[in-house]
Amino acid sequence: MGSDSQRDGGATAKGAKEAPSREGVAQLFDRIAPTYDLLNRLLSFRRDVAWRRRLVDRIPRNRPVRLLDLATGTADVLITAHRRVPTLTGAVGIDMSEQMLVHGREKLTRLGLDGAIELQQGDATALDLADGSFDVATIAFGIRNVMDTPAALGEMLRILKPGGRALILEFSLPRNRVVRAIYLCFFRHILPGLGGLVSGDPKAYTYLNQTVETYPYGPAFIRILDEVGFTECSCTPLTFGIASLYSGHKPL
Ligand SMILES: C[S@@+](CC[C@H](N)C(=O)[O-])C[C@H]1O[C@@H](n2cnc3c(N)ncnc32)[C@H](O)[C@@H]1O
Repeated sequence: MGSDSQRDGGATAKGAKEAPSREGVAQLFDRIAPTYDLLNRLLSFRRDVAWRRRLVDRIPRNRPVRLLDLATGTADVLITAHRRVPTLTGAVGIDMSEQMLVHGREKLTRLGLDGAIELQQGDATALDLADGSFDVATIAFGIRNVMDTPAALGEMLRILKPGGRALILEFSLPRNRVVRAIYLCFFRHILPGLGGLVSGDPKAYTYLNQTVETYPYGPAFIRILDEVGFTECSCTPLTFGIASLYSGHKPL
């Protein structure tokens, strides 16, 4: 295992206290789907776009790539991959929330990508996909929402070809104390209010924030990747560690 980060974050992969059921999570995203993209750009000052690019830029370009994106939401990772990975031969996105997929499909139609990218409704912890059928599996800001982190990572490992790569983007907490204090102030006191105001669902943004503060990150998340069976696992903190990009390989 190699890690760019020595941080050890979070306590449990099970997420915040009083976590909703799997269906409850899908319903929560159904409710916030209409304003999801707008709020992502607004609340992250558009850093979310740059973070997804960093993830996509880790996809190999020297060979054909069949890509699976879990918890794909409104398909931003797949759209970014389509633009930046010339060797992409297939792209499938899976999400539990029907409404997130509706907005994703609208975007794909608008961009003329509905023939190139396929979106399916499904559960990341129980995929109806063949073993060893993808070169790369990604998940952006979704792993902390799936309720059973090792099960979702296990499914990523199963559907990857030997030598295939998993790329995971997730929120984390800044290591520097001062940056962390400033960030947590914004994150706890401004972000849920703004999210609630624009989406009309204050509870959703309060829950989503709590999950960030309780979810494992850095070396703690690397340990989970190792335990699931990935090799050459690494973590790259992005923007002072507000997000982290993890990578792991399926052994040959
Ligand atoms: C914060 S959004 C991330 C969406 C997108 N990946 C992005 O980068 O914006 C989290 C997504 O995870 C989905 N999700 C949560 N649990 C899931 C599960 N068990 N299986 C599939 N999707 C799930 C939600 O429906 C939601 O669309």
